[in-house]
Amino acid sequence: MKSDFSAEMKERTRAADAVVLKALPEESGLQKTIFSAMRYSVAAGGKRLRPLLMAETFRFFGGQDQASLELFMAAIEMMHTYSLIHDDLPALDNDDYRRGRLTSHKVYGEAMAILAGDALQSYAYETACRAFDLTEDPEARYRIMRALQILIRKPGVYGMIGGQVVDVELTGKPVPKETLNFIFELKTGAMIEAAMMIGACLAGAGEDVLAQVEKAAHDIGMAFQIQDDILDVTGTEAQLGKPVGSDEKNAKTTWVTFYGLERSAEDVRAYTGRALDILAGLKAGEDVQEDFLFAYIRWLISREI
Ligand code: IPE
Ligand code: IPE
Ligand code: MG
Ligand code: MG
Ligand code: MG
Repeated sequence: MKSDFSAEMKERTRAADAVVLKALPEESGLQKTIFSAMRYSVAAGGKRLRPLLMAETFRFFGGQDQASLELFMAAIEMMHTYSLIHDDLPALDNDDYRRGRLTSHKVYGEAMAILAGDALQSYAYETACRAFDLTEDPEARYRIMRALQILIRKPGVYGMIGGQVVDVELTGKPVPKETLNFIFELKTGAMIEAAMMIGACLAGAGEDVLAQVEKAAHDIGMAFQIQDDILDVTGTEAQLGKPVGSDEKNAKTTWVTFYGLERSAEDVRAYTGRALDILAGLKAGEDVQEDFLFAYIRWLISREI
């Protein structure tokens, strides 16, 4: 796996990309500006981290029902893209570039960017709900219902939005240590928890396993946001597709301003190691270290994109 990891990652990212794009609405009708704006931000690319983690967690737990999975993969990426469009708005981080393109509000104007975010959020639910049309099997329908519950809760006020609220309120103000953790857990961790929990849930994992997956995903989310803060300082706009120095411009307290670069990099490794241990514990006795899911999570430690 190691030697051809990047080819494998490219291929799986491309596959996730195709799944997401296929689920977008057609661009026609009087409201076609919204379809165009939705597609503009989703089709710009991105790592497809959340659908990929969902699909790989699903595979890790022996999932079979690919059709339902794909609808949820598309849904989580729509939800994530909505969070990015709104995060970049002048009222929030006020950033002009995202995924290598001008941000939605720069191209479509603020009103349409707000609506494009709203539209992607509600279309994510619409898309995921289509999974009910695929099966009459009560057990499969129960799994879809549980996955939907996760998809609804994690981006909400006890998840992503909750984190964004505290992030915005404390911009330019001192942030206590516990609050910084809270912000990371919610604004970023919650969506990664959703991705991995939905993957496990659709594969048939029970509540005890879901709780462990949630813990592992929490740690991956922390590592991911810490690395995002590191890259805001050490990265390049060409590689990231978004401006560097955005946090400094907005006087944000980040992991880097709080702990420094060196400790931040250590924390990325530590959180990732913890996550991998939890996941490995769910398949005790099996050699999972070469599994693509594990290789991908390890890759995130040193990502520069
Ligand atoms: C950016 O997410 C927002 C954060 C939670 C840090 P990603 O880094 O996954 O963005 P894309 O999807 O690759 O563009
Ligand atoms: C964003 O955190 C988290 C979201 C919910 C979108 P950031 O504001 O650090 O994300 P980037 O750096 O703009 O991608
Ligand atoms: Mg932000
Ligand atoms: Mg931002
Ligand atoms: Mg950032």
